[in-house]
Amino acid sequence: MGIDLPDPAVIAPAAPAPAPAAAADPMTPRPFRVLRTKRELSDTFTLWLEAADGTPFAFRPGQFNMVYTFGVGEVPISISGDPADPSVLVHTIRSVGKVTEALGRLGPGATVGIRGPFGSAWPVEVADGHDAVFVAGGVGLAPLRPAIYRVLAQRAKYGNVVILYGARTPEDMLFARELQQWRGRFDVSVHVTVDRVTGHWGGKVGVVTNLIKAGGFDRRDAVAFVCGPEVMMRYAAEALVERGTARENVWLSMERNMKCAVGFCGHCQFGPTFVCRDGPVYRYDALEKLLTVWEL
Ligand SMILES: Cc1cc2nc3c(=O)[nH]c(=O)nc-3n(C[C@H](O)[C@H](O)[C@H](O)COP(=O)(O)OP(=O)(O)OC[C@H]3O[C@@H](n4cnc5c(N)ncnc54)[C@H](O)[C@@H]3O)c2cc1C
Ligand code: FES
Repeated sequence: MGIDLPDPAVIAPAAPAPAPAAAADPMTPRPFRVLRTKRELSDTFTLWLEAADGTPFAFRPGQFNMVYTFGVGEVPISISGDPADPSVLVHTIRSVGKVTEALGRLGPGATVGIRGPFGSAWPVEVADGHDAVFVAGGVGLAPLRPAIYRVLAQRAKYGNVVILYGARTPEDMLFARELQQWRGRFDVSVHVTVDRVTGHWGGKVGVVTNLIKAGGFDRRDAVAFVCGPEVMMRYAAEALVERGTARENVWLSMERNMKCAVGFCGHCQFGPTFVCRDGPVYRYDALEKLLTVWEL
């Protein structure tokens, strides 16, 4: 197809060594108990889980688990909780099919299988001394939330902290109360937009890239973390670069179908990389060409 595909080693400079839990036996799910569930939106819910053997679950912001529901199947889901609290594992999930719908029917006391954590992390340390900009679309706020918690926990290390969020409608706004709490702080800027107005909405209307254009951060100096539907990430990354943010300071989280999650089966191939092993968090400069190739 005539494009010059980058070297995977260049694509994923932040790929970590496997975390200890994953390295022990990456193919065997560990039993976790559902402590609590919450319906966030009509099609999205959060599960709070604890290991049946009580072991703390350490992870880095941006990493994901394979979540297995017995008799139905296993899906990759990012961790949406606070990395400072390994006593509880949090996943926020949108019901789109067989496995995610089955997970949505679970209640407190149910058991799921967990493999992980897997994959690369949001490199929040790269933003030390810089403006940190989070750009999220839809349920993409969930994989970014651990990085937001981490940055807010070490707020003094960063310049401006800016959260830009786009949802389809006001009713589709994930973590709306938390967005309001962050907006209430004097040291964080939160801007929200919706694609379509329903009910009484007095806020911004339009795509999340409009919020990037509005600014509120030092574009040359900023480090941006972007998560959402692929087309949204592509336009957001382009808008950031157009406004002066360096390509190597823009990070995206990719999704592909997965089976093994440890780099064996090839299901998650993305150009010359495997998303489970080299991603899901990639640096934009090396990913740019792949994003423009339809259905790669
Ligand atoms: C690294 C990684 C992290 C992820 N993190 C999250 C997360 O935090 N929260 C979350 O809700 N989901 C997340 N996903 C997506 C999630 O894995 C899929 O939605 C899930 O695998 C669908 O499985 P299913 O059996 O429910 O649906 P399926 O029966 O497999 O699919 C049903 C329908 O949904 C479509 N579909 C499948 N996958 C997706 C997708 N990724 N996005 C939109 N439509 C899809 C299919 O094309 C099909 O039409 C992540 C995926 C990856 C790779
Ligand atoms: S899911 Fe098997 S290689 Fe990535």
